[in-house]
Amino acid sequence: MSRFQITVPATSANLGPGFDSVGIALSKFVTLDCQPADEWYFAVPEEDQPYIPSGKSNLIYKTALYTAEALGFSELPPTYVELTNDVPIARGLGSSSTAVVGGIELADHLLQLELSRYEKFKIACEIEGHPDNVGPAIFGGIMVSNYDGEQLDYVHLTEGMKNLTWLAIIPDYHLETEKARGLLPIEIEYKQAVNNSGSANVLVAALATKNWSLAGKMMQSDQWHQPYRQTLIPGFASFQEILRKENSLGHYISGAGPTTIALFDEWDEGKHTRLTTILKDFHIEPLHVNLNGAKTLVLASEK
Ligand code: HSE
Repeated sequence: MSRFQITVPATSANLGPGFDSVGIALSKFVTLDCQPADEWYFAVPEEDQPYIPSGKSNLIYKTALYTAEALGFSELPPTYVELTNDVPIARGLGSSSTAVVGGIELADHLLQLELSRYEKFKIACEIEGHPDNVGPAIFGGIMVSNYDGEQLDYVHLTEGMKNLTWLAIIPDYHLETEKARGLLPIEIEYKQAVNNSGSANVLVAALATKNWSLAGKMMQSDQWHQPYRQTLIPGFASFQEILRKENSLGHYISGAGPTTIALFDEWDEGKHTRLTTILKDFHIEPLHVNLNGAKTLVLASEK
């Protein structure tokens, strides 16, 4: 077997009212450097060791095995996997999706499954339950999709977004998705649902027609989840005025939070310096779309 490298991009889900349905791949990555070994081992960066196991309870391994079994295999060739992680854990930037997609890529390569991107997407949805993070992690770009437990439908957008800046405002604490989902109501009124669906429709139409200022406006119109979740993000209420002064097109809670993403069609060092100073309790990082999605690269053959 050869040494090979898998890279999976971070993702930002929801984009406001596109709850559980819209997501974008961004320019932060998890890298898995893989080589044959006598037993499975995940070499995890020191700062992530409290959260990511080194053995077979690792989500990457569990997903790889799930994929293998779904395709009729009972085991995977033992592999030493060295993780390089630039995607912060439990911050709303798709860290668990990077593990799920990384695991599917791993099984695909080790067992030469040659799965299509759609087949990978379907397996990832079975594991994640919703498609908004795993879709863009596999395909890159913006993914608009729906998964009802069986059917998976999607539209993949890639055009006209290269020059946008997606500013990540990342707090230094973790927020588990389960906790953030626990704040959501079990039911909402019909009239409210129709209105929310209208906002989501306009968001998607704006993304598809590259009307970024309208997309930014719709990001802030969301009533599905942000009104409930913003209580978990101290400072969120103050972002509106701060970001407006720097001509942000709009902002939203990334995935389940606690990261906020602000969209800019024009970005410069002055904005970076001012926002870093004002939002000093957060890590500020300008990101761009990743258009490639997950990739596997063969590095060298074993003699
Ligand atoms: N759409 C999901 C949510 C993303 O907002 O809960 C996190 O898995």
